[in-house]
Order: sequence, then structure tokens, then C-alpha cells
Amino acid sequence: MMSLKQGFFITFEGPEGAGKSSQVERLAAYLRSRGMECLLTREPGGTPLAECLRTMVKSHHGAETIHPETELLLIEAARAQHAREVILPALDAGKTVICDRFYDSTTAYQGGARNLPGEIISALNLFAAGGRKPDLTFLMDLPPETGFLRIRERESDGYDRFEHEDLAFHRAVRSEFLRVARNEPERVKVIDAAQDRNTISEIIRRVVDESLF
Ligand code: TMP
Repeated sequence: MMSLKQGFFITFEGPEGAGKSSQVERLAAYLRSRGMECLLTREPGGTPLAECLRTMVKSHHGAETIHPETELLLIEAARAQHAREVILPALDAGKTVICDRFYDSTTAYQGGARNLPGEIISALNLFAAGGRKPDLTFLMDLPPETGFLRIRERESDGYDRFEHEDLAFHRAVRSEFLRVARNEPERVKVIDAAQDRNTISEIIRRVVDESLF
């Protein structure tokens, strides 16, 4: 009989324009087709309150600047709410949870790119997540130049605060993501996001099959 892991937590990470969201949806459809109960969510966000915080973090404009420390705490506040309202109860109920971004994004954006201290970020990440680490993470890796091109083609309503950052910022994000992957090769699988969508879906399914079934 097929044995199946209950309460498995999968996250997707990577830069803007790497195609995360479509792979998240494809993976959810695949797992559902195999009879698994699957919850699909995203960060920052995933509950009404956390989505308000997402809007603040992504779209704040006006004279008052959001300081990096404030940005970090808003994102962690959203995560604390999301983890307790959505992620942890779903995992406890045995569902597979797929999250479009999670705390490695904080390590990469607020740590690697905004230069906030790594030990504070690690502590806050775990505190906000209620101590729950992802079981499997896909890092959709792409040079920032390519990601930018894709976003430019896609978005008509202007860039958010992160998309406004320069190339150096996005290079720092990428190298921090890759550092996390080097440190945790069992959990974090690096995928070349420049490949075509179907090839990427295939790779992801193979890894998930090995981990889950
Ligand atoms: P996106 O998921 O639609 O790309 O937008 C989320 C943005 O928020 C993205 O630019 C990365 C940023 N972000 C952080 O800076 N830190 C985090 O911890 C998370 C989850 C996202």
C-alpha cells in the first residue's frame, strides 16, 4: 500500500518573475489529482489581517519611509498571524500546505539585501512560524536581469516597493537565497527557473514524489 506523509509543508522561493505562482498552482493540481488534501497559500498574506500587512509592505507610498526594521516586523507579524490561523492548523489536520514564499524570503530580502542582522532574522523567523520549518523548499533561481525583463512584460499597474529596488539589491537577494540552499541542501532544492514551465513542473513532481509517496 502507498504510504503518504501527513502534514507536509512545501514552500516556494525565488525572485520576482521566476514563475513561482504558476508552479505552486501546478503542484497543487497534481497533488489533488493524486487524492491529497492540499492547501495553497502565500506570504506575506494568507489571512485578511496578513493581507492588509502585505499591502502596507508592498505598496506603501508617501513621504514617510518604511524603515528596514519596520518592514521586517510587519512581515513577521503577518507570518505570526498566517502560521497560527492557517498553516499550523492545516498541517495538524494532515493537509499538505504549499506556500508561495515563506521565511527564506525574509532571510534573503530583509537579511541579504536590507542588511539586517542574521541572528535577529533567524530568531524572528522561527518565533513567527511557531517553530515550524518547511519540509521541502523549491528555490526558483533566476538572474535578476531575467526576472526584471519578465516583470516588465507582465505588469501594467506599476512596480511595488521591492520591484523598484536596483539590480544590486536583487543580486544580494539571489546570493542570500543561494547561500541558504548551500547550507540546507536536504531541504532546499535549487531549480533553474530559466527552463520551460513543463520541464520545471516535471522536476518538481519528481522531487515531491520522492519526498511524499
Ligand atoms: P510576490 O510574492 O508577489 O513576489 O511579492 C512579495 C514581495 O514581498 C516580494 O517582493 C518579496 C517580498 N518579501 C520580503 O521582502 N520578505 C518576506 O519575508 C516575504 C515573504 C516577501
